[in-house]
Amino acid sequence: MGNMTQFPDRSKVAPDAERLKDYTWPEDPHHVPEWIYTDEYIAELEQQRIFQGRTWNYAGLEVEVPEVGSFIRSYLGSMPIIVVRDEEGVIRAFENRCAHRGAEFCRSYRGKAESFTCPYHQWNYGLDGSLQSVPFRRGVKGKGGMPKDFDMGANSLRRLNVTTRNGAIFVSAHDDMEPFEDYLGPQMLEQFDTAMDGRPLRLLGVHRNILEGNWKLYQENLKDTYHATLLHTYLTTFGLFVASNETFVITDEAGRHSATCNRRPEGRPENDETTAEIGSFHSAMQLEDPSVLNIVKESDSPWTSNALTIWPNMILIRQTNIFSARQIVPMGPDKFMLIWASYGYADDDEAMQEHRLKQNNIFGPGGFIGIDDNEVIKFVSDGALRGSERDGVIPLGKDDEPDDTVITDRALRGMYAWYRKEMGL
Ligand SMILES: [Fe+2]
Repeated sequence: MGNMTQFPDRSKVAPDAERLKDYTWPEDPHHVPEWIYTDEYIAELEQQRIFQGRTWNYAGLEVEVPEVGSFIRSYLGSMPIIVVRDEEGVIRAFENRCAHRGAEFCRSYRGKAESFTCPYHQWNYGLDGSLQSVPFRRGVKGKGGMPKDFDMGANSLRRLNVTTRNGAIFVSAHDDMEPFEDYLGPQMLEQFDTAMDGRPLRLLGVHRNILEGNWKLYQENLKDTYHATLLHTYLTTFGLFVASNETFVITDEAGRHSATCNRRPEGRPENDETTAEIGSFHSAMQLEDPSVLNIVKESDSPWTSNALTIWPNMILIRQTNIFSARQIVPMGPDKFMLIWASYGYADDDEAMQEHRLKQNNIFGPGGFIGIDDNEVIKFVSDGALRGSERDGVIPLGKDDEPDDTVITDRALRGMYAWYRKEMGL
């Protein structure tokens, strides 16, 4: 990488102590202050200390950049980046920002390029991010042009550290990050490999949608196993996720990542004392095409679903035969974008591919369960933005109890303990 421009270390920028005095975290560990969902300064601090801090951030799938020159537009936190496969076949990532006037120059979501040219003044960059040419560098007829000592090397794109695991791409603003495997820890790694086992992937589709709410609400949503047993008619009625299912909630040692592993029993849930408490359970409801529920056995995993939250921006899900990798892109305190990639394996036969595509109707902005989450996240956001000041409470379950209950907020408390530490709050 030699003279490539290194990303500046903003994680060491000291927070404005005077300003931080205005924020007092509640003493009760069951309380979450609502300003973390709405405050501009907190959102800015998150970019520096979390996304550009010592984290591995999910940025896309290797299968999205299959050949030399294949690229995707992605993000590190809110910061636009490009992920590209260079001439040597190495995956690189750099800021999507011209060294000249700072334009976010790459506007296509994906494509194939021999080089990148900023449309503003046509500064041209190689696939490794190096500045290759500047128009009229010597001026015209001996007049104008760049200074003689203009250093092309110092004006490359800012590059990021890149690592991969079983087909997923992660980027970091730091070169001295621990390996991704250590970042996840052994228990989470085992779950990760269940959702992406190392075989070549096949991309089934990508969609993007913007949600009204703070990005952390999405991490919360996936760690909040309690809601999954109550909100989602599809999950409860057809037995995919019911409080009485065998389920484990695993967290890493630091508490920042989590995985929910769940086994769906044969057949549909009956009317009993568990389902009686579930408002979304409708025993008479029928599916037009019940094959959407079919389980095709494809691994040794005892679980039918694994839902991972990987700090700070990745959701990785295996639900029956669906695989979904989601990237959370914060867009200020009360808006974020989700980039959902659905995938299968390259060696799937046509029937399996069809099955996966059909089953994928669960997810996405209009999916059987995806739409429920999008809606309640907006409800929480509306409350935080317009309601009277009031902490949220996450009191369910105990922190030291066995991990085989879903009626718990343990994973949320773990995340916020870590968050406070990282943010210096
Ligand atoms: Fe949900």
